[in-house]
Amino acid sequence: MSEENATLDTREPDGSEVAHVGRPEKHDSAEKHVSGTALYVDDLLEPEGTLHLAPGWSRDAACGRIVSLDLEAVKTAPGVVAVLTAGDVPGENDCSPSIGGDPILADGEILFWGQVVFAVVARTRAQARKAAQLAKIEVEATSPVVSVDCALVNDTTVLPDYQFRKGQPEAALDTSNQRLSGVMRIGGQEHFYLEGQISLAVPGEDGDMVLHCSTQHPSEVQHIVAKALGVIDAAVTVEVRRMGGAFGGKESQANQWAALAALAAHHTGKPCKMRLDRDDDMTMTGKRHDFRVDYTVGFENDGAIHGVDMAFAARCGYSADLSLGVVDRTMFHADSSYFYPDALITSRRMRTNTCSATAFRGFGGPQGMLAAERLIDAIAITLGLDPLDVRKRNFYDRDRDITPYGMRVEEFTTQHAIVTELEEACDYRVRRDAIRAFNANSHILKKGLALTPVKFGIAFTLPQLNQAGALVHLYQDGSVHLNHGGTEMGQGLYTKVAQVVAHAFSVPLSKVKITATHTGKVPNTGPTAASSGTDLNAMAALEAVEKLKKRLTDFASDKYGVPVDKIEFRDGKVMIGTEPVLLGQLAKAAIMARVQLSATGYYATPKITWNRQTSTGRPFLYFAFGAACSEVLVDTMTGEMRVTRVDILHDVGKSLNPAIDIGQIEGGFVQGMGWLTTEELVWDDQGRLRTHAPSTYKIPTASDVPEEFNVSLYESIGNPEATVHRSKAVGEPPVMLANSVFSAIVDAVASLKPGVIPPLDAPATPEAILAAVDAVKSARPT
Ligand code: MTE
Ligand code: MOS
Repeated sequence: MSEENATLDTREPDGSEVAHVGRPEKHDSAEKHVSGTALYVDDLLEPEGTLHLAPGWSRDAACGRIVSLDLEAVKTAPGVVAVLTAGDVPGENDCSPSIGGDPILADGEILFWGQVVFAVVARTRAQARKAAQLAKIEVEATSPVVSVDCALVNDTTVLPDYQFRKGQPEAALDTSNQRLSGVMRIGGQEHFYLEGQISLAVPGEDGDMVLHCSTQHPSEVQHIVAKALGVIDAAVTVEVRRMGGAFGGKESQANQWAALAALAAHHTGKPCKMRLDRDDDMTMTGKRHDFRVDYTVGFENDGAIHGVDMAFAARCGYSADLSLGVVDRTMFHADSSYFYPDALITSRRMRTNTCSATAFRGFGGPQGMLAAERLIDAIAITLGLDPLDVRKRNFYDRDRDITPYGMRVEEFTTQHAIVTELEEACDYRVRRDAIRAFNANSHILKKGLALTPVKFGIAFTLPQLNQAGALVHLYQDGSVHLNHGGTEMGQGLYTKVAQVVAHAFSVPLSKVKITATHTGKVPNTGPTAASSGTDLNAMAALEAVEKLKKRLTDFASDKYGVPVDKIEFRDGKVMIGTEPVLLGQLAKAAIMARVQLSATGYYATPKITWNRQTSTGRPFLYFAFGAACSEVLVDTMTGEMRVTRVDILHDVGKSLNPAIDIGQIEGGFVQGMGWLTTEELVWDDQGRLRTHAPSTYKIPTASDVPEEFNVSLYESIGNPEATVHRSKAVGEPPVMLANSVFSAIVDAVASLKPGVIPPLDAPATPEAILAAVDAVKSARPT
């Protein structure tokens, strides 16, 4: 091979050196996203004869028995090919990710407003949607259980209660110098992925089914579809190239639409596409859990917490879905970053006649942490201390490092360093004084400031989910086909894994072909969730690459008589002793000599020993840390609020890709800010979701991004655990940086009257802020 070719081959197309890990490589789809050439399921060319589905449901009731279902007008409507009801499911009529209770099509009973009763299959999507309106569904309505409070009164749950007990919480509360009790309500959140739920099912021979689906969990969709159709798992293949956002909303919530598309394809023999309309999507699919939290905290006059009693009651909706794990994670994060010497943390999973609450970025963690920040703010306001000092007073520390669930926080010094560094970098103390002065002179406008920590446990708390697989082929031209079980939802997983693979082979990133997640290539995968996509899949891919490198090294050693320890993959080449060879040359020679150049890789997270029955063991491999300082300006006359400045320092260990990591931090923060300030879900007392469209449900827009927004990565010496290149997960933890916005609003309102704790609930909408302002103003001064 000529010298010129060799140079070309060892560099990226832009001429840059090969050294991938740690570089701000652009997201592999970035240009396709902005130019509209990235293919989502709805962009795939439809196979000839594709039919379209629309869900049919009753707008009259949130719960009750279906007395009659008249579908005549639907069946005879223009373009309608088939109408499917529960009786048309040949296998199991359930799409639950856990213990059941999620009918694909309602079977005699309606459990929430938005339950799908039938599905119309028509030539066009518009025809299907029009026809779906023509059904006559008669429901013997019973009165729905809508709120958490109502469910508590009725004692309806989807799963058994659960608790962590550490030490002697009752005694600790009794002997504390001071004691505070309160109730806080924390709202849910709609995922609002830009690409809604969608599946395209293409039937093949012998009952085979291929699905193109927007799901975080292809293996589960495969399993659910096979069960619904009554065929073997091996007959169903699920492929996912990318999602247009998921945020947990496609971890289990994609199942139903995939099952319906497959069911329609099974009955009609035609390719069938199910794409939900936005209103239907918001009405029918699960969201973040909302909570009622009842707390009591006992503390000393210096702010040190002695004991806590925190009771979490979650609105889980009509079925269990993922509520076991979600509410457990709330409990695992009810400490935020604080050491509770004695603690009782209880949880109830309330059954309501609302959509089934599900995974949402943070998976219950944000709600637990927000409650902990309320404890701290309440203590600080009561004692007249700076909340940051109360926070620091209670941080995990030497000999104060055991969580309420028994796991040791080994890396508390990282947390201390981040908070101290941020406090200095953002001039916390100077600004605190300035804000005090401003508020003293400003009667209507009040400023607030808060610096809050993040500590987020990384690993699935269901131990069996902590595994991943990969498949890597090396072709004779030195190009690499990369496949793994993780899915791409915008978070940059595909790019990061490709970087790790390119780095390991020492080839240009452009030589690594990223391919769609596919149940036929890598089987039995877990969901891409719990922020662990890179931790798991990059490690699995790396194992496959190491296998291939070993085969190539052994081969080269034989062929050239060079010892294996003198063969290295570096600087874009394979160095065989002093002889540089291109990977493609070596691959070609190896294939000629009959060496297999395809390998699978596998990874199972080490050290995870959590046992839920006994509440013992280690649930997480490590913690991701961070801290944010937010400043807000509140109009106490109208309740309006602006976030004027945010400073973030976040720990991603050794970053695999700082550009993607910073993107995750910015996006996670803004999404968390939306959850805590503008995004409000309202169900009426009939169980009807009144906020089922962007006209009534307000997500943050570009103009809500803080005026001053400084985001930095913490200069880490690397993850102390042996993760891929010592990186840390980044997908979910940044959401909880937004707790600083909520605490800053509390701070602003609290400035109205010393010693009075603003009874602010989340989301802190203008209405909620105004109510808190009024409550503080009318409270007795302390
Ligand atoms: N980022 C984008 N752009 N879109 C998403 O849907 N989902 C979040 C987070 N970041 C999401 C995202 C959630 S809920 C999780 S669990 C992680 O990404 C999943 O990906 P990872 O494990 O590869 O970080
Ligand atoms: Mo993320 S809520 O774990 O999908």
